[in-house]
Amino acid sequence: MDARRGDGYAVSAEFYDLLQAETDRRQAEQRFAEAAARARYAVLDVGAGTGIVTEVLLRASTVPVHAVEPAPAMRAALLSRLAHLGADRRARVTVHPEPFAAAGLAEAADLAVASNMIAGLDPATRRATWRALTAALRPGGLLLFDPPPAHLPTGTEEAQRLGPVRVGPDLYLADVTREPHRGVLRTVFTYRVEREGTVLRQAREAFDLWPAPPGLLAEELRTAGLDVVRAPHPDLMAARRPAA
Ligand SMILES: C[S@@+](CC[C@H](N)C(=O)[O-])C[C@H]1O[C@@H](n2cnc3c(N)ncnc32)[C@H](O)[C@@H]1O
Repeated sequence: MDARRGDGYAVSAEFYDLLQAETDRRQAEQRFAEAAARARYAVLDVGAGTGIVTEVLLRASTVPVHAVEPAPAMRAALLSRLAHLGADRRARVTVHPEPFAAAGLAEAADLAVASNMIAGLDPATRRATWRALTAALRPGGLLLFDPPPAHLPTGTEEAQRLGPVRVGPDLYLADVTREPHRGVLRTVFTYRVEREGTVLRQAREAFDLWPAPPGLLAEELRTAGLDVVRAPHPDLMAARRPAA
């Protein structure tokens, strides 16, 4: 599945908020709310997904927010989330349906956030995204992102469980496995809906993650014209477009 082909997240979008929104929202508040509160021009949400982070950025800031989300399934959930916001908050959001490097944003924001998305970019797309970020940030603007895993693990990692979350009589859950596969980290989400111990349905979606050590990321960012700076949170990397 691939956001660029338009079918990415076709399975996962249904389950994403139910299984991840609460944890992801808390994490986004810790990681991004302070920087968003300091934004004076606009904020970019790169790979906005269902809008969990977009909503945190809107609540924390007072400036326009550009939510860039190319996958139709995720964008549908993003727009449903925006539909439930007050008209004042919704008026501050622009939704861009292209991959970030094709969105053509120029000096549009003083803060860019890429949450849980850089690892999913192949190296060429990642480098194109850095270049597009340099163009999209204003001089002095800040980029915050969570870096991909530094290296491939040597074997299959222990499966992780998301949920279960109850909806009426049913339990929704996902098992997530990650294993090296031809140089990438293949991550498989297996979703299940259960009622009274019986599996009602099961669906599966696989994503490839591209590991990259921090030194390589720093080099790529520098080549794209961004200075690596101290991140405001231990799980993040940060870079700044040099002031004019
Ligand atoms: C794992 S989701 C994370 C969503 C959201 N940032 C969050 O933390 O909840 C990654 C998102 O990045 C989007 N994405 C993938 N490639 C992209 C690209 N080149 N430009 C912008 N978004 C992209 C995907 O469609 C997907 O919705």
